[in-house]
Amino acid sequence: MTLIQMANLFTKIFGDGGDIRAFFAPGRVNMIGEHIDYNGGHVFPCALTVGNYAIARKRNDRKLRFYSHNYRKGGIMESSLDDLVFKKKDGWINYPKGVIWAFKQHGMEINCGLDVFVWGNIPGSGLSSSAAMEVVIGTMLKDFFDFKVSPIDIALLGQESENKFNGMNCGIMDQFASAMGKVDQAILLDCASLKYDYVPLVLSNCKIIVTNSNKPHSLTSSHYNDRRRECETALKDLQTVCKINNLCELTPEQFEQYKDVIKDDICRLRAKHAVYEEQRTKDAVAALKLNDIDTFGRLLNESGDSLRYDYDATCYEIDTLVDAARRQKGVYGSRETGGGWGGNTVSIVQDQFVEAFKENVGKEYRSKTGLTAAFATLEVGDGGRRII
Ligand code: GLA
Repeated sequence: MTLIQMANLFTKIFGDGGDIRAFFAPGRVNMIGEHIDYNGGHVFPCALTVGNYAIARKRNDRKLRFYSHNYRKGGIMESSLDDLVFKKKDGWINYPKGVIWAFKQHGMEINCGLDVFVWGNIPGSGLSSSAAMEVVIGTMLKDFFDFKVSPIDIALLGQESENKFNGMNCGIMDQFASAMGKVDQAILLDCASLKYDYVPLVLSNCKIIVTNSNKPHSLTSSHYNDRRRECETALKDLQTVCKINNLCELTPEQFEQYKDVIKDDICRLRAKHAVYEEQRTKDAVAALKLNDIDTFGRLLNESGDSLRYDYDATCYEIDTLVDAARRQKGVYGSRETGGGWGGNTVSIVQDQFVEAFKENVGKEYRSKTGLTAAFATLEVGDGGRRII
């Protein structure tokens, strides 16, 4: 949909007039560094060119009216600045409500209601449409109400709203990538300090293929929060013998030395993933800078295997996609990306083999799962912004 079409729909739904503005925030793909943002590790995501759009205007009262073109059957959903509480029946509008709530928690009072039209073009699940929603709403609030917040503040407010309002205990990676993304660059983000560096995501003669399994995943379905708890339990045990604040402060050697103090076998595996994933992420970025695609691809594979066997964050559909991908000609690496238990994979494929890759992987996936995978070449875009 074009911006003009969105603006026309806005006036059709909410009426003419006033100061109508448009905003965009992207989804993200994480190249490597999975499930370690909440363990104080380094992650390596990039922003996409697809994401969520918001067309909005201030109101003269305290009503909040939202309309999603993706969920248009729900019609206009109404709430109020005086009713910023999570309600299951409110569905997707809990996300924008949560962001308004988080701003308010930090003393940024929104003094009038809003009409907001949203439309998103992120395919499937697992590419952070919720973070894109939080960042686009945060960007909109900053702009309409002149709040003195940086893009990083917007990311943190989005994370806070997701943790405390929507009950999903996510780390900072998705919101950070959506707020801070840069065209053609991935972000090496130290989640303990929020220090970051942009690294060009260029792989000569290769494409990064994002494959949507079309197997929906539901992070709030407790798996994710369980993993966080397991990591916290492992950390507590380790803190009895070493002075650390986060699992990712340990080197693999230190982990091997101390791991036996972790009482629970499962928690020990989760911690192993975190510690080794941190090392892999640093090594992968170093390899990318040297254009060493063999090493970069191998580390992606190791990350995927660790997610599968040690972190138990994949599923049959994802394993099928990854196994099929790795068997194709011209593939350097393939793994699940994002929260897990469904969603998407990323694969590094040599240019001349991309078409055969899509055909063969698509066929095998359909025959083994009955689902149709969707393939897209990764396009890396800029972070959240006002567009008109
Ligand atoms: C989800 C969360 C992120 C991160 C990833 C896993 O996308 O929102 O904070 O933990 O899972 O790397």
